[in-house]
Amino acid sequence: MQVYLNGQYLDQTEATVSVIDRGFIFGDGLYEVIRSINGNLFREKEHLDRLNEGLSGMRIKLPANLFNSLSEISRKLLFQNKLMEGEATIYIQITRGAAYPRTHTFPEPNVDPTVYVSADTFTPHTRLHQRGVDAITVSDLRWMRCNLKTVQLLPNVLARQQAWDAGVNNALMIRDGVVTESPNANIFAAKDGTLFTFPISNYILNGITRGVVLEICKELQLPVVHQPVREEELYELDELFFTGSTTDIQPVIEINGKKLNGGKPGPIVRKIQEAYQQRLYASVEKKK
Ligand SMILES: Cc1ncc(COP(=O)(O)O)c(C=O)c1O
Repeated sequence: MQVYLNGQYLDQTEATVSVIDRGFIFGDGLYEVIRSINGNLFREKEHLDRLNEGLSGMRIKLPANLFNSLSEISRKLLFQNKLMEGEATIYIQITRGAAYPRTHTFPEPNVDPTVYVSADTFTPHTRLHQRGVDAITVSDLRWMRCNLKTVQLLPNVLARQQAWDAGVNNALMIRDGVVTESPNANIFAAKDGTLFTFPISNYILNGITRGVVLEICKELQLPVVHQPVREEELYELDELFFTGSTTDIQPVIEINGKKLNGGKPGPIVRKIQEAYQQRLYASVEKKK
């Protein structure tokens, strides 16, 4: 598998990052995951815009020409790895770079950020989309800038593992008595025909898929309230679902052992899944 690292295309086994890289030492970096179908990146602009905002938010200075070449690098990797047909994902990671001595403050003089890009095959979780998944509630242990897609994913890792250890698929993270998101996806809930989703803020990642779902709701005239669901309201919901670039639209059918909608995906999530699949595949068809 060919990857891109700091200006070079290399075999993955030969791509190495310095032990003094601030990504390794401090988790001082961020990442992006973009879905590719037949070599076309779904909602590429939105993903790159979010990456750019994240770089500003973390005050990492990446030269504009390098940032602008990320798109071409991604395409080249898809081509080199024979991923121009079918499903794939692009992973981009940028850290503040390698700097010595180890100090919390930004390196002086400035160092070049580390830029890593890879392209991988991807298999949509079709069975989970059809059947739905179970989840438990866990505490949202993350920091106060969850809008930045940083590589510091330890609270997310622990939450997902907690779910896994409990024998369920995923977790609903609770902060101050309300559901924020899952460790790897945004959340929508439905009650009496109205959808609820956590408002865009520093407490959640501004998911690109969430944005697509909001477009779909507008088109289908489904009312959406940008308001979180309280923990105690969870079991009275008609439906709940996750949204994410690799998650797609995934119904949640059981929370802490209690079934939602009789343990079956409900009619709203089914409509949204259908409309999302159309957008995911039709938009890339058009670009071909
Ligand atoms: C914490 C979190 N929230 C939401 C999402 C969904 O974001 P997107 O739809 O942009 O993939 C992700 C995706 O990785 C995530 O990690």
